[in-house]
Amino acid sequence: MTVSSRAQVGIIGAGPAGLLLSHLLALRGVHSVVVENRSRAYCEARQRAGLLEAGTVELLRAVGLGARMDAEGLEHGGIYLQFDGERHHLDFRDLTGGRWVTIYAQTEIVKDLIEARLAAGAQMEFEVSGTEVTELDSGQPVLGFTDSAGTRHEITCDAIAGCDGFHGICRDSMPPGLVTVAERGYPYAWLGILATVPPSTDELIYARHENGFALHSMRTPQVSRLYLQVPADEEIARWPDDRIWAELRRRLGPPGWELKEGPITEKAITPMRSFVASPMRYRRLFLAGDAAHIVPPTGAKGLNLAIADVTALAAALTSLLRDGQAERADAYSDRCLTRVWRATHFSWWMTSMLHVDPSADRFGAELALAQLRYVISSRAAATTLAENYTGYFPLTWLPQAEVMPRAQGPGEQGGQRRGHSGLGQ
Ligand code: APR
Ligand code: PHB
Repeated sequence: MTVSSRAQVGIIGAGPAGLLLSHLLALRGVHSVVVENRSRAYCEARQRAGLLEAGTVELLRAVGLGARMDAEGLEHGGIYLQFDGERHHLDFRDLTGGRWVTIYAQTEIVKDLIEARLAAGAQMEFEVSGTEVTELDSGQPVLGFTDSAGTRHEITCDAIAGCDGFHGICRDSMPPGLVTVAERGYPYAWLGILATVPPSTDELIYARHENGFALHSMRTPQVSRLYLQVPADEEIARWPDDRIWAELRRRLGPPGWELKEGPITEKAITPMRSFVASPMRYRRLFLAGDAAHIVPPTGAKGLNLAIADVTALAAALTSLLRDGQAERADAYSDRCLTRVWRATHFSWWMTSMLHVDPSADRFGAELALAQLRYVISSRAAATTLAENYTGYFPLTWLPQAEVMPRAQGPGEQGGQRRGHSGLGQ
């Protein structure tokens, strides 16, 4: 038996993109259904990035999702760049006129979003299978899936949002030949660990060492997050904990600085690639987040791009479905891709400058070092890094009048803060 129903927006994927889109649409009175093939527990436990641009933080605050982020997030006004055995500080607030970043793990944002959506009575289905999108040429696309109890559903939608990540089905559901892909592989990967030990630094350290890149990040005042460049086809079994700490000490430590060590609670290798699919829309099917684009993690743009996409998509779908205006929906793909390509360039640039390319000759290595020396010695170059790192283009905001009034939920800040006037677009 198949159960048929209707929704204004069908959302595939309960990652940050799908969940935030559902939240932003609800604020504007647009009803959505979210379907996700993993369990809630899996989505909430998945370890991903953890660095929010200033505009992302401001958006989350403005839409009532700032309470725990403001209590537990760590605000950073800069980073350290390390190479040739020396550490240099970049002061983002000074370079950008006050912009900053916040450390708050993606997994915590996902928990906050799921809690907020469930508290608002949202329709969310976890552990679905057989997700399909059909009838794309009809103007009323259909979202099909089988729920966790085995019942098949077909939801007729006014629009479908493909927020189903890089391995999802939405990108490939577009007509053959429509989507073009631009991509770049990298000859290395990141081995990332979570360790129960206070961070050994106040702000993130990005280090280029002759053995490869290393990054000292963090999650909380008690938990450190660290990464090492490893070969693209590396096996995790070759990295027992002692070897990881020894290599982190070697790559991160200028003389006189000590790396604190503690129990490793998570260890994984992540491949690196740049990937951009365009267009991000076919009729009433819209792609957002990793479903449309992937960046290498250096500079932490992936989550921020996903949030920027759905901020634009929520405005576009509201205009289309509530007000009957198609301009924003028509502009959605081009508008997102402009930001995506800026972040794609920045992530590629940071990655190439900071990693040791095993196939590069002396010329390639010297170019990377020359670029690093330029960044720490020229205010113009440092500003370029700082304005991209803290978010370029900063998210912009729609007038408050476009946001539907709503009751304020428990623990939510709601409304406006720090002079901002409404939802971003
Ligand atoms: N049906 C239902 N859900 C699906 C399907 C499917 N066929 N395929 C994938 N999904 C779900 C995945 O299980 C996942 O929970 O879609 C969700 C996609 O979420 P993310 O991969 O987190 O992607 P997104 O929301 O775009 O967030 C991007 O994640 O990978 C990081 O660096 C990236 O931080 C960025 C963020
Ligand atoms: C992280 O904390 O996971 C992180 C931080 C900065 C990056 C990449 C990852 O550039």
